[in-house]
Amino acid sequence: MTDSWPHQLLDWYRTHARDLPWRNPPGRALPDDADWPYRVWLSEIMLQQTTVEAATPYFHAFTTRWPTVAALAAADDAAVMQAWAGLGYYARARNLLACARRVVERHGGRFPSHEAELRDLPGIGDYTAAAVAAFGFGRDAVVIDGNVERVVSRILAIRTPLPAARAAIRAALAPLVPAGDAGDFAQGLMDLARRVCTARSPRCLVCPLQDACAGQRSGAPEAFPVKAAKKARPTRHGTAWWIEADKHVLMVTRPAKGLLGGMRALPSCDWRGNSTPPLAGDWQALGVVRHGFTHFDLELAVQALILPARPTLAGDWLALDALEEAGLPTLFAKAAQLGLVAAAERGKKAA
Ligand code: ADE
Repeated sequence: MTDSWPHQLLDWYRTHARDLPWRNPPGRALPDDADWPYRVWLSEIMLQQTTVEAATPYFHAFTTRWPTVAALAAADDAAVMQAWAGLGYYARARNLLACARRVVERHGGRFPSHEAELRDLPGIGDYTAAAVAAFGFGRDAVVIDGNVERVVSRILAIRTPLPAARAAIRAALAPLVPAGDAGDFAQGLMDLARRVCTARSPRCLVCPLQDACAGQRSGAPEAFPVKAAKKARPTRHGTAWWIEADKHVLMVTRPAKGLLGGMRALPSCDWRGNSTPPLAGDWQALGVVRHGFTHFDLELAVQALILPARPTLAGDWLALDALEEAGLPTLFAKAAQLGLVAAAERGKKAA
């Protein structure tokens, strides 16, 4: 035993490990149980979805009802979906079944132990493959989830921002994984992340690795992992046209491809500054609505043209009193609100 931080972590884990139903106690040989990797895999899929506390009763229910991967593979789809209900995200439950069936069909009902073969199974990515290899088979895999990323980026004060830091974290961690103890090491990092090296206020005073931790020496361990500065979203400008006649307004369906594709909308320009109206006339400015899309903010000016009769234009004429129920996307619901308020004011003046 040396006093390098990975070994200090293993020492700490041996006395502080959480007792979890899918976890081999620290320092012990893996159970001599052909279904052990199945339990590990099942827990990992559940933990992608929820917390240890929430996953535990589901884990017991699944392993009681389907104690082996072969039993799960033979289960009725509907029964599995029902047992999964409450964990959310049914795609994972479908992948769970697909994976169990693949293990039976291609691997004779035994999970493969190599990461590359595990990654070939439905619903298993890099992290889960490494976790099953290490926790299920005792292989020397490098298991890195978001919590491990946080702890390691602090210990080593990795200043490269995420997501680019991931490669640096992996490269730095791989040679430090203690041979033969990869599972305990990774689960030690996870428990330390949960109990000591928390995201917002790490408890450095009680940390077994405080002397080794470059993040703690920096004075601001919570600043790790460094996140890439968010790019300021650009603002785009556009115009929407409220064309009203006979208590109806013209609506169009947006092109199937692109933003708000296939949805009902006021006729509008392309949001890149081109604002030639669809008709010449006495347009009135109703105001501007703002809306945040993923990659830009939009300021949409709304112009109104009130006509005595409906002109011939592509689109549908919607009754004003049906507009609030028309299921418009938020941007156009906001724009339509300006049109409705103006129409109501005109109505009052005329009365
Ligand atoms: N999160 C995912 N797998 C875990 C494990 N084995 N122990 C603790 N937290 C986890």
